[in-house]
Amino acid sequence: MAALSPACRKEEPVVATPLPASPSVPEPYTYSNASPDGIGKFHHGREIAKVMGHPAIGWLERDDREKEEAPSKAIAALNLAPDAVIADIGAGSGYYSFRISPHVPRGKVVAVDIQPEMLDFLRAKSRELGIANVEPHLGAVDGVNLPAASLDAALMVDAYHEFSHPAEMLASLRHALKPGGTIYLLEFRGEDPEVPIKVLHKMTEAQARLEFEAAGFRFVSNSTTLPWQHLLVFRNP
Ligand SMILES: C[S@@+](CC[C@H](N)C(=O)[O-])C[C@H]1O[C@@H](n2cnc3c(N)ncnc32)[C@H](O)[C@@H]1O
Repeated sequence: MAALSPACRKEEPVVATPLPASPSVPEPYTYSNASPDGIGKFHHGREIAKVMGHPAIGWLERDDREKEEAPSKAIAALNLAPDAVIADIGAGSGYYSFRISPHVPRGKVVAVDIQPEMLDFLRAKSRELGIANVEPHLGAVDGVNLPAASLDAALMVDAYHEFSHPAEMLASLRHALKPGGTIYLLEFRGEDPEVPIKVLHKMTEAQARLEFEAAGFRFVSNSTTLPWQHLLVFRNP
């Protein structure tokens, strides 16, 4: 088994306490004692992980990510039109956003995060790299706050498992995606004990399908050609 990755030392949460669900949405969650990496809130039996704080930006930008995750291979599989508008939800430092931006030269990447410090980092990096089509966007824990039918696609990399309100987030994505729009979900493979990431920061294909299909998305495919992650594709009907 590979040495334990720094992913096993995630930062303190920024959203540590489960918040009440919106009264307009039926309560889809259960609650129990929190495990050390979780928030004690469960969705379809999965305990939601703590949020990675912005002090971990260095870990997101680490050099060995290409070897561990093969992001260039993942991005090549996204099949984006040059004018596509794609949201990178839970963009963090924009590690994926900036690598996707050359693939959508006439479109843009909306880099959504709930931590203003992540958005500050994204803005500074856009200036440094001279990239004009990565648009930082402040989301909320329970919604992406994007206009209806404004996205061709949405990507979530190592992020969905820590959304404190996954059902509300998926409902907001159904609203923001165009009909027929695509969701790309990258999560560390929960089925594989050789993937050296904490259990709550991994997800099985079955669990992801349970949650996304319950939210109304249609499962299209899964590719397990990446070193450690699933690349799951869902479609907005
Ligand atoms: C582990 S980091 C991954 C960052 C990036 N996707 C990457 O792979 O480099 C997860 C990010 O998701 C963000 N996040 C957590 N809940 C969120 C939500 N409801 N909406 C948007 N971003 C969220 C966190 O603030 C954090 O920056």
